[in-house]
Amino acid sequence: MRVLLTGGAGFIGSHTAVSLLEAGHEVVALDNLYNASPESLRRVEAITGGKAPLVIGDCTNARDLDRAFEAYGQIDAVIHFAGYKAVGESVSKPLDYYQNNLDATFMLLRAMKRHNCRAIVFSSSATVYGTIQKMPLREDFPTGCTNPYGWTKWMNERVLTDCASADQTLSVVLLRYFNPIGAHPSGRIGEDPSGIPNNLMPFICQVAAGKLDHLNVFGNDYPTADGTGVRDYIHVCDLAEGHVAAVEYAVEHPGTEVVNLGTGEGYSVLDIVHTFERVNDLRIPYEITPRRPGDVATVYADASKAKKLLHWQARRNLDSMCRDAWNWQKQNPDGYGKDKE
Ligand code: NAD
Ligand code: UFG
Repeated sequence: MRVLLTGGAGFIGSHTAVSLLEAGHEVVALDNLYNASPESLRRVEAITGGKAPLVIGDCTNARDLDRAFEAYGQIDAVIHFAGYKAVGESVSKPLDYYQNNLDATFMLLRAMKRHNCRAIVFSSSATVYGTIQKMPLREDFPTGCTNPYGWTKWMNERVLTDCASADQTLSVVLLRYFNPIGAHPSGRIGEDPSGIPNNLMPFICQVAAGKLDHLNVFGNDYPTADGTGVRDYIHVCDLAEGHVAAVEYAVEHPGTEVVNLGTGEGYSVLDIVHTFERVNDLRIPYEITPRRPGDVATVYADASKAKKLLHWQARRNLDSMCRDAWNWQKQNPDGYGKDKE
């Protein structure tokens, strides 16, 4: 099938493009390059030997969407990655987040109707589970959010679910990602954050590269084995393969499904630091600092629904995640750097 990847030049989109091409599908990316480089898709082509064409355009613009739907032939399904994703920034610029992340979905759904495309997979997040929950998190647990970014995911889930209820020909799969880290094992594509990274793994990589002098560990007084926060880290290549399974499911099954993409296992901040040090044979200096506001002690998925419904489960371990993240960073100290344009 031919799959449109909105936000396809980004971190998860580019890895998903590789997995789709390897599974024998065609891809078309639509990206406004707000947080990405076209180089990522050139490298997807180099890795796979396939075609990963990019339509430069905005998901909130009907004409740009029409170009993407028309440029390379009938689109059979969409994977909707496009959006802003920085939690902290969403608190200071809520309107930008609500406008971009919601308009993109509204306009995309209308374009899908115009172009007779009836299947969509959406990038949601474990953040929609809110804060007070029993672990592991199951898809039928109550939802709620703590920041505008999270609410855009929550609202998009609602919009997509309601549209699928109103139109029996529409298929929606809502994927709730846990913590994607790592990079393609070739080291050719990976995460390229602008400025100082907010997330743990890109921060550790920059400490390892000598760009930052130490890691701040946000709190060691949580009720966890070593006192540091526990998360469900998932290799981005596993996550990408989860999208292939989801989109193949979507085209065959109208209606809405919500599916966690995680490993089902939690690791602490210090587990990550020590694994990264061991597999890459280097030291990560760190300091314990106060908790980061808004963080919770422990988050991990019940990953059983993905296995049952999509016949998918994560297969890469924490050693691979840490090795592949460093391999990407080492080969690309400035991300896509001078190849950015
Ligand atoms: P990313 O920023 O690398 O990718 C998003 C892409 O969307 C970027 O290439 C950006 O240029 C593009 N984009 C943004 N607004 C657009 C618009 N209006 N029109 C066209 N393109 C637009 O982020 P990512 O880590 O690859 O995340 C992909 C999706 O997964 C996002 O929706 C994100 O919220 C969600 N998600 C990510 C994580 C994570 O930890 N990375 C966790 C949960 C959910
Ligand atoms: N952490 C540190 N130091 C850092 C960065 C993070 O100690 O410099 C800790 C955090 O306190 C947390 C863990 O590392 O315990 C992971 O933090 P991340 O920022 O990497 O990830 P989060 O779990 O906070 O957030 C991620 C995504 C969000 C998404 C959320 C859903 O970044 O977009 O998962 O659970 F909403």
